[in-house]
Amino acid sequence: MTANELRNKFLEFFEKRGHKIVPSSSLVPDDDSSVLLTTAGMQQFKPYYTGAKDPIKDFGVRRTVSIQKSFRTSDINSVGDESHLTFFEMLGNFSFGDYFKENAIEWAWEFITKELKISPERCYVSIFAGDTDVPEDKESFNIWKSLGLSDYKIKKCGREDNFWGPTGNEGPCGPTTEIYIDGVEVWNLVFNEYYQHPDKTLTPLKQKGVDTGMGLERLAKAVQNVSTIFETDLFKSLVETSRIMLDHCRATSFLISDGVTPSNKEQGYILRRLMRRVMAMKEVESADIENLLKRVVKEYKNFYPELNEDLILSVFNEENSKFKKAIQQGLRELDKLEKLDAVSTFKLFESYGLTFDIIKDIAGAKAANLNQADFDAEFKKHQELSRTASAGMFKGGLADASETTIKYHTAAHLMLAALRQILGEQISQKGSNITPERLRFDFSCNQKMTPEEIKQVEDMVNEKIKEDLPVKMEEMSLEEARAAGATGVFESKYGERVKVYSIGSFSREICGGPHVEHTGVLGKFKIVKEESSSAGIRRIKALLE
Ligand code: ALA
Repeated sequence: MTANELRNKFLEFFEKRGHKIVPSSSLVPDDDSSVLLTTAGMQQFKPYYTGAKDPIKDFGVRRTVSIQKSFRTSDINSVGDESHLTFFEMLGNFSFGDYFKENAIEWAWEFITKELKISPERCYVSIFAGDTDVPEDKESFNIWKSLGLSDYKIKKCGREDNFWGPTGNEGPCGPTTEIYIDGVEVWNLVFNEYYQHPDKTLTPLKQKGVDTGMGLERLAKAVQNVSTIFETDLFKSLVETSRIMLDHCRATSFLISDGVTPSNKEQGYILRRLMRRVMAMKEVESADIENLLKRVVKEYKNFYPELNEDLILSVFNEENSKFKKAIQQGLRELDKLEKLDAVSTFKLFESYGLTFDIIKDIAGAKAANLNQADFDAEFKKHQELSRTASAGMFKGGLADASETTIKYHTAAHLMLAALRQILGEQISQKGSNITPERLRFDFSCNQKMTPEEIKQVEDMVNEKIKEDLPVKMEEMSLEEARAAGATGVFESKYGERVKVYSIGSFSREICGGPHVEHTGVLGKFKIVKEESSSAGIRRIKALLE
C-alpha cells in the first residue's frame, strides 16, 4: 500500500464515521504565535477544545479528520535514524465534546489491525500511569483489555511519555494512549480533559475532547514492512542521497511554500539551518540540491498544491549565493581555532553563517565538547539582547512618540491597506521602523513592485488623507478582531483583549497605537524607495511632506 493510499484510506475511514475532512493548516501558524511552526494536527483546532469556537458552526459536526503538515525542531538531531524527521505528515482525528476514549481507541485499533491488516502481534500500547495531579488512566486500560490485549502488552508510563502538554505555553492537554508497531511509536491518542495554564496548573475543560496524531511516514514503514522510513515509497522516488539531505530538502520545500524565508530569527532561522547544512555537505553540488527540491515538488504536488517550485528555487539560489560567499572565510576561521565552545561557535555563526549543525558536521574532534544546549543558551542570550534593544523602541516600531512619528505610524496603516488592495490580500507586514524623519516598512511579496504599482499605492494613500478619515480605536477580543477582518499579529492569548484601530472603513489593524485622530493632518505621502529586504520581503521607505 502506497503512502497516498494510506492518506486516502485514513480520511475515508473517519469520514465514514461522521468526521468532517479539514485541510492542513500552514506550517506557519497564523493564530497561535506561542509556537514558531505547526507541530501537531490539533493546533488549528485549539479554540474548539476550549469552547472559544463552535465546531458545529464551522464544520457542521463535532468531529474532524485531517492530514497536517507538521514540523518538529526538537527532532532535528535524531534525523537520519530509522524513524525521525523534521517535517512530517500527521494523520489525525479529533473530537470536540463528542466521542471520547472508547470510540477513539476502538477505531484506532480497527484501522490498524482490520483496515491495514497489521498483525496485533507486532503491536503494543501504552497508557498513562498516573501521578500526583492526574489519576491513572484505568478506563483506557480496560478498553484495551476488552479489545484482547494482554496485560503485558499495555505499558504504563508517566508524564514524560504519556501526557500531551499543550503546544506553546498553555492550552488543552491530557493523558495519552499510544500505539507502537515493531517497537516504534506510531499513533498517539490524546484525551484532552484539562487546560494547562502558563504557570503549569491544570483545570478541567468544560468539554472533553480527543486529539490523535499518527506519523504517515512511520505508518508507511510499518505497512510496507521496511526497516526505515527512508525506504518507504514516500522517499524512494527521490534521488539516492543521505537521509539528512532528504529530510532537510523536503522540509525546506514545505517551509518556503508556506511563506518562510531564511533569516537569523524564528522560523527563518530554522529554515536557514536546514538549508545551510545541506549546502555545506561534502560532495553535494548546488545542482544536486536543486534537483532534489524539484523532485520533492513533483512527488508531493498532487497532495500539496501549494508547493511552489519557482519560489523554492529562487529562495534557495539567493540563500546559496549568500552562503557560498560567507562560508569560505568561515571555514578558514574554523581552521584556525583549536577547540570549539559555545561562544566561538556562535561567533562563527554570527559572522560567517556557519550554523551549529555544519560546525558539528565538519569540525570533528575540535567540536567534541560542543553541545546543542550550550549553543542554544548562547544563541538565546544574543536574541534577548537584541530584543531588549528593540524593546527600547516605542510600540508599533516607533522610535519616539513625537507628533511626526505618530503621523508616520498612521500613514503606515494606510499604506498597508493600500498595498493589500493593489497587490492582493496575501500581503502582510513583516516589520516597521518609524522615526520623525521617515517610515520604513517591510512586507511579504515575491516581486519587485512596478512603478505603476508604487504610484497607485501612493495615490490611494493620498486620497485617504484628503478624505480626512476619522481614526477610531476599539477594544475587543482577539476572536472579534479576527471576525472584524482586522490585520495584524494575532499574538495574544485566547480571550485576551486587543486594541483595533480603524481608519474609516479603509483600514483595520490590531495595534497598540498611538495614532492621529484624523488622516487630514498627515500632509502629502511619498514613497521614495522600494527595494528587496531579504528573499520574499520588500522594503519601502516613505516620507510625509
Ligand atoms: N497532538 C498529539 C501529537 O501530536 C496527537 O502527538
